[in-house]
Amino acid sequence: MKTRSILFFVLLLLLAALGAGFYFLYPRAMPRTDHAEVVNATTQIITKGEYLARAGDCVACHTAAGGKVFAGGRPMPTPFGALYAPNITPDEETGIGQWNADEFYRMMHTGISRDGTLMYPAMPFASYTKVTREDSDAIYAYLMSVEPVKLQNRPHELKFPFNNRELLLGWRTLYFKQGEYVPDTKQSAEWNRGAYLVQGLGHCAMCHTAINALGGSSESKAFEGGMIPNQNWYAPSLTSNREAGLGNWTIKEISDLLQSGVSHRGTVYGPMAEVVYNSLQYLSDDDITAMAIYLKALPQRDSEPPPTSQARLVNPAVMELGRRVYTTQCAMCHGNEGKGQPPEYPPLAGNQSITMASPVNSVRMVLNGGYPPGTKKNPRPHGMPPFNHILNDEEVAAVVTYIRVAWDNSGTPVSAAQANELRKVMPE
Ligand code: HEC
Ligand code: HEC
Ligand code: HEC
Repeated sequence: MKTRSILFFVLLLLLAALGAGFYFLYPRAMPRTDHAEVVNATTQIITKGEYLARAGDCVACHTAAGGKVFAGGRPMPTPFGALYAPNITPDEETGIGQWNADEFYRMMHTGISRDGTLMYPAMPFASYTKVTREDSDAIYAYLMSVEPVKLQNRPHELKFPFNNRELLLGWRTLYFKQGEYVPDTKQSAEWNRGAYLVQGLGHCAMCHTAINALGGSSESKAFEGGMIPNQNWYAPSLTSNREAGLGNWTIKEISDLLQSGVSHRGTVYGPMAEVVYNSLQYLSDDDITAMAIYLKALPQRDSEPPPTSQARLVNPAVMELGRRVYTTQCAMCHGNEGKGQPPEYPPLAGNQSITMASPVNSVRMVLNGGYPPGTKKNPRPHGMPPFNHILNDEEVAAVVTYIRVAWDNSGTPVSAAQANELRKVMPE
């Protein structure tokens, strides 16, 4: 009994000495520069995380119009009801302040939230699963460094049965393939970096893949283009030279489009303008070039022969009306021959995004007008005025038909009914 308590006492003393030793020795054993290095390393990781969060465009969904950055609350309309992106600031109570890096990586990698719930794929984890652990940790470190905002999450407003998360099990089995990006050793380092960014953080497939009724996009259809549900914009195929396939663009043209929002081949508008504004303009020249190299090399999938111009099928009276509207309203910017004044005013002749099968985007541009995004490389873009109050449905249809078939363009005619339907869609 006695020897035991003595041993215990000795142990205590030893521990105390050890503790004291550390207490007195540790700060001196740690040279000041080490501390500075640790802080430096952390700052570096946070800076890297900020860059990667830009590449992932987290801000686009997780920030409400006029709201605090990352505090959530932005509604995302879907065919199944509205989803509200949550608060991802480090607030302990209403944000993700209690998450650790493991939980954050699990969420990015598997689409399973901290409390174990299955997440809706409106959070693009189906793409983010490709993100490496290291990059996920950097994004986590960055998010933990931003100002915490106390703001309660707004519950989703999904219709029955979509409010039942168990349904996601089925979606996951059909459409979700978990796994970090695996480099293709047959390709260059640049191509692989581009693929990693486009398939992963860039989540380009989320819009540029046809969304089927279940809200999934199958891998074999990746980048084939589709209507964005509830937004009435068409995200063109990136694998067809008849849409936005980039096979015959130069690397410079693709890079310009992605980074500055304008190029000699076309400009971005609508949801793509937001992607450039919030995300792509901040990426380094090297990363943008890598993405361009990957996008240009995507296998083109035009199985059908290209359509020939249907100009001869268009009612001559419609063609004449279209030409008249074009000459008076459009030619001063886009040129009599449709050559535009690139990069400020995009060419309409030989522009794939005008002749592709879906005329939705062109009709919307004529009705609502638009501005390419103001970017670091193109801070003061030239805009296009709206024509909804100047042109009636017949005139809109005629001028869009005209630009789709004139100058050897190989598009098809547009009806006044199509113009009327899109007129009802308010500009975003
Ligand atoms: C296209 C829109 C969209 C983008 C882009 C997006 N998110 Fe989300 N995010 C959502 C939605 C919607 C949810 C809610 C999902 C649910 O309830 O199942 C969500 C959920 C989350 C959650 C879970 C929060 C919680 O409290 O459960 C985190 C963390 C998160 N996102 C982080 C990120 C990060 C980091 C990025 C960028 C790399 C990002 N998100 C990009 C839409 C988006
Ligand atoms: C929120 C939906 C959305 C996301 C995310 C998105 N896009 Fe787009 N994209 C569109 C829409 C809509 C258009 C058609 C409007 C336009 O041409 O600007 C488009 C057009 C394009 C075009 C064709 C432009 C032209 O003039 O022919 C390219 C190239 C493109 N996107 C590449 C990308 C890449 C690369 C990514 C990922 C980094 C991406 N997009 C992410 C919606 C999206
Ligand atoms: C004041 C100059 C101006 C006038 C007038 C104008 N546009 Fe535009 N147009 C632009 C600019 C600038 C853009 C790029 C806008 C953007 O990216 O948001 C554009 C874009 C477009 C696009 C989309 C191009 C693409 O790459 O998909 C179409 C289609 C279009 N204009 C057709 C017309 C038609 C038809 C008229 C006449 C009814 C017209 N424009 C009148 C300046 C003009």
